Amino acid sequence: MKVCVVGSGGREHAFAKTLSTEAEVVITPGSAGIEGSTPEPATAIDADLYVIGPEVPLVNGLADELRASGHYVFGPGSDGALLEASKAWMKDLVHAAGVPTAGYASFGENQIEEVAGFLLTLEPPYVVKTDGLAAGKGVLVTDDYEEAVSDARNKLSGVSFGDAGRRIVIEEGLVGPELSLFALCDGQQAVLIPTSAQDHKRLRDDDCGPNTGGMGCYSPMPGMSSADLDELMDLAVHPTVEELKKRGIDYRGVLFAGFMMTKDGPKLLEYNVRFGDPEAQVILPRFEGNLSETLLEVAKGNLTTQPIVSADAMVTVVLASEGYPTSPRTGDVIHGMDDAKTIEGVTVFCAGVDSNIQGELVTNGGRVLNVCGRAPTLGAAREIAYKAVDAISWPGMQHRTDIGASIETSINREGIK
Ligand code: AMP
Ligand code: GLY
Repeated sequence: MKVCVVGSGGREHAFAKTLSTEAEVVITPGSAGIEGSTPEPATAIDADLYVIGPEVPLVNGLADELRASGHYVFGPGSDGALLEASKAWMKDLVHAAGVPTAGYASFGENQIEEVAGFLLTLEPPYVVKTDGLAAGKGVLVTDDYEEAVSDARNKLSGVSFGDAGRRIVIEEGLVGPELSLFALCDGQQAVLIPTSAQDHKRLRDDDCGPNTGGMGCYSPMPGMSSADLDELMDLAVHPTVEELKKRGIDYRGVLFAGFMMTKDGPKLLEYNVRFGDPEAQVILPRFEGNLSETLLEVAKGNLTTQPIVSADAMVTVVLASEGYPTSPRTGDVIHGMDDAKTIEGVTVFCAGVDSNIQGELVTNGGRVLNVCGRAPTLGAAREIAYKAVDAISWPGMQHRTDIGASIETSINREGIK
């Protein structure tokens, strides 16, 4: 089988590397650090299966275009991608499906007075979200009413997020630990990928510093059983798929559902229409059985294989460039990659790299490398990952030292323990 992976980050490297053990893989555009990279666009590549990693090409209809020319694609069309591209559309859909979610209302340009009035009816924390894609930065959670109104004003006027913010969703603020799950959906039914992963969003240790795309991740989360995840599937994902079908949407790809475990039970926070990054890096390599065949079944609308994931633990530590997340510096030479890769249990995925004229790997983005350790236990996986991190360096390299260290986020069916 020939598989074409679309994207250039660590998530797509994890797809390409895992799939390459069983299929011929090309990745577009990929990067200097990823084998099989080609600058040819996906539409010019002839493959048996296309796997689209990031949300932007999905929202822009790349899956529709490829399907229209008779190809099998893992990833929803632009209709299903609205689950991520429009929070107002997603909230209306899950509300219609009877999924528990935070109370909300959506507003357009010229409705700042209505926003201010609606916020007065809510208790803090106040939540103000851009309707459209904002690279994970479009959500403000604050206890300050004035700040919420001012943030809403900047979003609606286009000042802070351009067109993505000209419609906003105001939500009731929820409190509790967060949890994500991943399900494969073949257009008819969704099937749980039976593992859990926890991302660390803040730049610095102990969840300090600014929000990022994710500074590291571990899987599985101790104390989270498949039965717990199945309950969330029944509560949210299965009803969502039924509602998508009712609307004539044939969703083929992954559903990444984010929940908050409140004292009133789990509530759906968001859907993403792609794998998490860096969650994919600690899940895909642990896939047992044939990943390419499973994704092809999804793409064909006939998923019969039950996904199985190894019980091994994986930890990934994100190495970021100086200045990330506000203004990442590029072009720093990366040292020590080869040494790191010789450590048993280590895999390094390239998230943002390029090569310079000397042929050396250099930083080329905010999140640069994902250093992964795999072992039977979380503690051992963590140790392996950090041993490899110690071998790698470049000027200004940033990373957290506590990925997978504080794992007492214990979540039970009632919510917070
Ligand atoms: P979203 O992109 O909608 O998942 O929001 C990003 C982050 O904002 C979530 O992971 C939560 O930490 C926070 N958040 C989103 N919605 C709410 C809410 N209704 N109440 C409290 N926090 C929220
Ligand atoms: N790591 C979170 C995301 O991919 O959205």
